[in-house]
Amino acid sequence: MKPIPYGRQNITNEDIDAVIETLQADFLTQGPKVKEFEDKFAEYIGSKYAVAINNATAGLHLAVLTMGLKEGERVITTPITFAASANCVRYVDGEVWFADIDKDSYLISLESTRKLIESKPKGFFKGIIPVDFAGLPIDLEAFRELADEHGLWIIEDACHAPGGYFTDSKGVRQNCGNGNYADLAIFSFHPVKHIACGEGGMVTTNSEEHYKKLLLLRSHGITKENMSENHGGWFYEMQELGFNYRLTDIQSALGITQLAKNKEGVKQRNSIADTYKKAFSDKIKFQSLPAGTYNAHHLFVIEVENRKGLYNYLREHQIFAQIHYIPIHTLPYYREIGYGDATLTNAEEYYSKCMSLPMYPTLTKKEQNFVIDRILEFVSL
Ligand SMILES: Cc1ncc(COP(=O)(O)O)c(C=O)c1O
Repeated sequence: MKPIPYGRQNITNEDIDAVIETLQADFLTQGPKVKEFEDKFAEYIGSKYAVAINNATAGLHLAVLTMGLKEGERVITTPITFAASANCVRYVDGEVWFADIDKDSYLISLESTRKLIESKPKGFFKGIIPVDFAGLPIDLEAFRELADEHGLWIIEDACHAPGGYFTDSKGVRQNCGNGNYADLAIFSFHPVKHIACGEGGMVTTNSEEHYKKLLLLRSHGITKENMSENHGGWFYEMQELGFNYRLTDIQSALGITQLAKNKEGVKQRNSIADTYKKAFSDKIKFQSLPAGTYNAHHLFVIEVENRKGLYNYLREHQIFAQIHYIPIHTLPYYREIGYGDATLTNAEEYYSKCMSLPMYPTLTKKEQNFVIDRILEFVSL
């Protein structure tokens, strides 16, 4: 049996042909493929606007700038996510506050977030960055209600969840990142995610104002629109201090063909998840699935008592499970800036037991059965 990773891209000849075609075309970057990818992505997700960016970390940076976050201002997120979800707040010298997670869904807890907000005077926090962790959609309707009570914005970190949805109180399916409840949402196209661009990402929104700001900041703050003067056809203005966070046409061409496969890919991921669930049923705890929710399953997460033992045992069998995530407040950078004493009981308990199992559309039945057999064998030892 060849090594089995926890995640893997699925690149087909169609993807390769699309990239070659772009390499032979007139534009390698800032050409027609970027806008085509943005339009197709917005249509798929159901948002009004989509802005392609060079990675989701850059997208998160642009998102906090778009929401106007400034030095010393405070934002709440979850400790069980990739560091980038919190780091974006630090990029503008903001303060990160962590709410604890729910024990069963592993998502940021609404109650813990509410408690944190209500323990401080009004205006203390500026926003919330909830994460659709592992691909499981946050109930953004509930978070929006809480945010509106306190005048907060919401940036949805949907990096794990293109294709996931929750059902709102009116019975309507709400796709992750569709912009109906969050101000902005961020997706990642790192190869281990659903859609592989090498590096890449997308910011989605329903706000025209945010959309324009994102476009400006993505490309140096330079524009040819709404200029205060115009010296001729060459003229442009730099109206803000922006960045080069652009995605290339080459990557966008790949993104377009990858996106076309995502619906089927998420279906396959769910079928793999069902097989795991059937095999583990009452033996091993796995991430819960709230009613009306469709998990996009970037990951399949379990909890086991002897996590390190199982991790090493699987490696001996060439199965490369992974741990998502080391709680952010315990990372050395965050400890050093004052989070050393923070206690987030559920997050720490979860981290002591969690493990992400192989989950990707091309995982074969034979490989998955091999993984399941090794796990059941280990837990019954
Ligand atoms: C939840 C989450 N947010 C943000 C990121 C950052 O994504 P990128 O690697 O595209 O910058 C990741 C990547 O792992 C992630 O998992």
